[in-house]
Amino acid sequence: MSTAVHMHDVVFGYHAHSPVVHVKELSIDKGRRILLHGPSGTGKSTLLGMIAGVLVPQQGTCEVLGKELTELSHAARDRHRGSEMGYIFQSYNLIPYLSVKENIGLPCQAHTKRRMRILAPSLPEEISRIAVGLGLAEYLHRGTDRLDIGQQQRVAIARAIIGRPRLVIADEPTSSLDNDHREHFLHLLFEACEDVRATILFVSHDRSLMPRFDECIAIADINQVRA
Ligand SMILES: Nc1ncnc2c1ncn2[C@@H]1O[C@H](COP(=O)(O)OP(=O)(O)O)[C@@H](O)[C@H]1O
Ligand SMILES: [Mg+2]
Repeated sequence: MSTAVHMHDVVFGYHAHSPVVHVKELSIDKGRRILLHGPSGTGKSTLLGMIAGVLVPQQGTCEVLGKELTELSHAARDRHRGSEMGYIFQSYNLIPYLSVKENIGLPCQAHTKRRMRILAPSLPEEISRIAVGLGLAEYLHRGTDRLDIGQQQRVAIARAIIGRPRLVIADEPTSSLDNDHREHFLHLLFEACEDVRATILFVSHDRSLMPRFDECIAIADINQVRA
């Protein structure tokens, strides 16, 4: 199976009878770096929510990494997401009262499958290994509220890729960054995902990022609902 995501005739609305996303067909091959771009308010995050299994479509099918999400229970969708997907949020959503080390380890604490897929002999060693790769080794014991933006980004990447998820979803993580930081972020993210062979689904309103990706999808081309 070479498809990471396949959506068919999917409809979702936050309120009855007012859909915000209607996608007839969307396929994402495994191992690709995909940029989903388009203006604010056009359904990008909603689409990601369905792929992650946080939102359930009112119509259609949504197969992600071999599982038809619409047939799964709430708990099974949560498990599938936690085990198989890494998620990077716009504001990184690091837990402020936990250290860098604890933030990075969270997915493996919560999901056995992620913990079983680590490469080092133990979780602390795996966290150190990833931290070294991302230039975070000296900050492992620091609270994440004492990190600058570049360090926060790197913790978010580490947390997303630990335990080798098969799909990494990033929802506008670069929108508050200047050009240099943006380039650096993409470089680190791609390198980390290549390491674990994850498919990347990256959302941005910034079309200048297009050359860096294998495939670019304009939300307006796939969403039948006009914002
Ligand atoms: N939790 C929500 N409740 C109600 N409406 C929402 C919610 N989240 C998003 N919307 C609406 O759905 C539409 C698509 O939003 P969104 O998927 O966030 O777009 P984008 O990520 O492209 O900015 C917008 O009209 C937005 O106002
Ligand atoms: Mg959004």
